[in-house]
Amino acid sequence: MITITQAQLIRGSKTLLDEASLTIYPGHKVGLVGANGTGKSSLLALILGHLSLDKGEFSLPSGWQIASVAQETPALDVSALEYVIDGDKEYRQLEQALHQAQQDNDGNAIALLHGKLDAIGGYTIQSRAASLLAGLGFAEADQQNPVKSFSGGWRMRLNLAQALLCRSDLLLLDEPTNHLDLDTMYWLEGWIKSYQGTLILISHDRDFIDAIVDEIVHVEHHKLNYYKGNYSAFERIRAERMAQQQVAYERQQKERSHMQSFVDRFRYKASKAKQAQSRLKALERMTELLPSKADSPFYMEFKAPDALPNPLVKMEQVSVGYGDKVILNHVHLNLVPGARIGLLGRNGAGKSTLIKLLSGQLQPLSGIYETNPGLNIGYFAQHQLEFLRLDDSPLQHLMRLAPNHREQELRDFLGGYGFNGDMALSPVRPFSGGEKARLVLALLVWQRPNLLLLDEPTNHLDLEMRHALTMALQSFEGAMIIVSHDRHLLRLSCSDYYLVDQGEVRSFDGDLDDYHQWLLDAAKSDNHSDGVSDASPAQDKKLQKRLEAELRQKLSPLKKVQAKLEKQQQECSERLSELENMLADTSLYDADNKAKLTAVLSERTELTQALEESEMEWLELQEQIEAMEQSVTAQIT
Ligand SMILES: Nc1ncnc2c1ncn2[C@@H]1O[C@H](COP(=O)(O)OP(=O)(O)OP(=O)(O)O)[C@@H](O)[C@H]1O
Ligand SMILES: [Mg+2]
Repeated sequence: MITITQAQLIRGSKTLLDEASLTIYPGHKVGLVGANGTGKSSLLALILGHLSLDKGEFSLPSGWQIASVAQETPALDVSALEYVIDGDKEYRQLEQALHQAQQDNDGNAIALLHGKLDAIGGYTIQSRAASLLAGLGFAEADQQNPVKSFSGGWRMRLNLAQALLCRSDLLLLDEPTNHLDLDTMYWLEGWIKSYQGTLILISHDRDFIDAIVDEIVHVEHHKLNYYKGNYSAFERIRAERMAQQQVAYERQQKERSHMQSFVDRFRYKASKAKQAQSRLKALERMTELLPSKADSPFYMEFKAPDALPNPLVKMEQVSVGYGDKVILNHVHLNLVPGARIGLLGRNGAGKSTLIKLLSGQLQPLSGIYETNPGLNIGYFAQHQLEFLRLDDSPLQHLMRLAPNHREQELRDFLGGYGFNGDMALSPVRPFSGGEKARLVLALLVWQRPNLLLLDEPTNHLDLEMRHALTMALQSFEGAMIIVSHDRHLLRLSCSDYYLVDQGEVRSFDGDLDDYHQWLLDAAKSDNHSDGVSDASPAQDKKLQKRLEAELRQKLSPLKKVQAKLEKQQQECSERLSELENMLADTSLYDADNKAKLTAVLSERTELTQALEESEMEWLELQEQIEAMEQSVTAQIT
C-alpha cells in the first residue's frame, strides 16, 4: 500500500501540502481531484521519486512496477509500434537476452528465456500493442511510421499507449484525456475499467472519473482528503457540508435561479426534442451538485461583442483540404449569432480542418466562402498553451493585446481570473497546466469575439473553472463552434450537433448517447465492409428545392401549433411563479385565509398538469416534424 504521513511539500514559494496524510490500498482505483495549482501533478512527481517531501514520510511497496505517461517524446526513428512495445521493459530485456543466447547457441538459456517470454505474454505483445494503438485512434497503416513523423498531440497518445502496455502494479495517469477526443476517450474508459492494478487518476472530467473510480482524494487547503465513492458522491457529501453555511447557501440560490432561467429557455427553444430532454436532465443533475460550487472563486463573462453582424460566415459548396488533398466537400454552413454548434466526428474525420478553415489558417479550395467585415474571431486551439511565451508574465501577455489600456485596469481584469499580485507579474513557465489554460481563456475573453472557435477548451481546466466557462457560454451572444470530449460541456452549451464524416459536414439528429451508439455502429460496419461509398451523388437541385418547399408547407401548420403551445407554456410558467410567490407569503397560512390557500393550491395543481400536457404535446409534434424532415433528407441524399 502507498502511505503518506504528516507530509509537507513546498514548491517555489508555495506550500502544497502541510501535515497531509493518505493511504491507498493495492488494487484500488482512486481519482485525484482538486483545483488547478493545488499540487496534484506534484503529488505524482513525489510518487515517481522526482520530488521529495520537505517533512513527513512517504512509502511505496518495494518492487512495484509503476507506469506513467512520459511528458516528452524524443523525435525518434523507431516505428510507433516498436516505441509502444518499449513500454514493457522486461520484455525488451528478455528479447535482448534471447538474442544473445541464440548467438551463443546456448540451448538451455534459449529454452529458459522462451518460457519466461511466454509467461509475460511476450508472444502476443505485437498484437496487444497494435490493438492499443488502434484503440487510441492510430490507423493501421500509420503504426509503422516513425515516432518523429507524429505531431505533439499524437506523440502524447504514443506515450499513453506505452504506459498502458507496461505490465504495471501502479498506473499513474495525469489528465490522460487532454490529448484525446470523445471517440478514443470512450475506448480509454473501457480499458482502464478492466485494469487490474492500483490506479491513481488525475482528471477534471466528471463523467470520465465517475465511470472509473470508486474513491476520491481531494487536494484542498494543503490536505489530502479521502472520500469513498465516485466523483458525484464526493460532490454530494461536500455539498451537504457546505450548504450549512449561510453565505455559501445564498450564492448558490442566486446561481440556481440563473440556471433555472436557462432551463426554461432551452425547454421550449431547443430545436430538437431529444436534445431538449437530455439537456434538462443534465441541468437537473447540475442543480443538484451546485452547493459545492458555492466557494467557486471564479466568475467569467463574455461581454457583449461590439457588433453582431448576420451572417458572420457564409459557406456554400465549400471544399477544403491540404495541397490537392481534399478533406471536406460540399460544406454548406451559415454561422449566425446565437448558433451553438457541437462538432462531432471520429478521429481524423476533419473537425480540426473545419476549425482551421474558419480561423483563417486554411483557405477554401473551392466554393463560396464569405466572412463579414465585422467578424471577430476568438480561437482557442487545442494545444493553445504552447503559444504562451514562457518567460513572460500574464500582464505582459495582456499588454500585448491591449497596449493602450492602463496597467491597473489590466491587473484588475487578470485578478478576476485568479492572477493576483506577484502571480500577474511572474513568468508563466512553472504555472500548472490549468493556470496556463486559465490565462489563455482570459486573453480570449478580453478580445470580445463574436465567433468563438473552441477546440477542446476544457483541457487542463479544473471543475470550478469548467463550470465558470459553461455558465459564461450560456449567455454568449455570438456564434460558437465547439469540439470537445467534455460531454458535460457539450450537453449544456450546444443546441445543434454537426457530424463530420466521410468528407462531409452534416447536421446530426440526436444527443450524445445517440452519438456513442453511432460510433459503435460505425465501428461495426467498418469491420464488415471497408468501402461504404462516400461519393456524394450528383444532387438534383430542382427536385431538392421542390421537396424542401413541400416540406415547409406540410410543417407549417405543425409549427404554428407548436408556437401556440410555447406561448401557453410561457403563460402557465408566469402564473405558476406568481402562485409560488403567494405561497411564500406566510400570512396565506392564517386560518382566515384558508379558502384562498385552497384556491391557490388547486390552481397550482391544475396549471402544473396543463404545463406537462402542453409539453408532451410539443414534444410529440417535434417528433413528427423530425420524422418528416428525415424522410425528405433521405429522398434528397
Ligand atoms: N518549479 C516550480 N517553481 C515554482 N512553482 C512551481 C514549480 N512547479 C510548480 N509550481 C507551482 O506549484 C503549484 C502546484 O503545481 P501542480 O502542477 O502540482 O498543480 P496541479 O494540481 O497539478 O494543477 P493542474 O490542475 O492545473 O494541473 C502551482 O501553483 C505551480 O505554479
Ligand atoms: Mg497538473
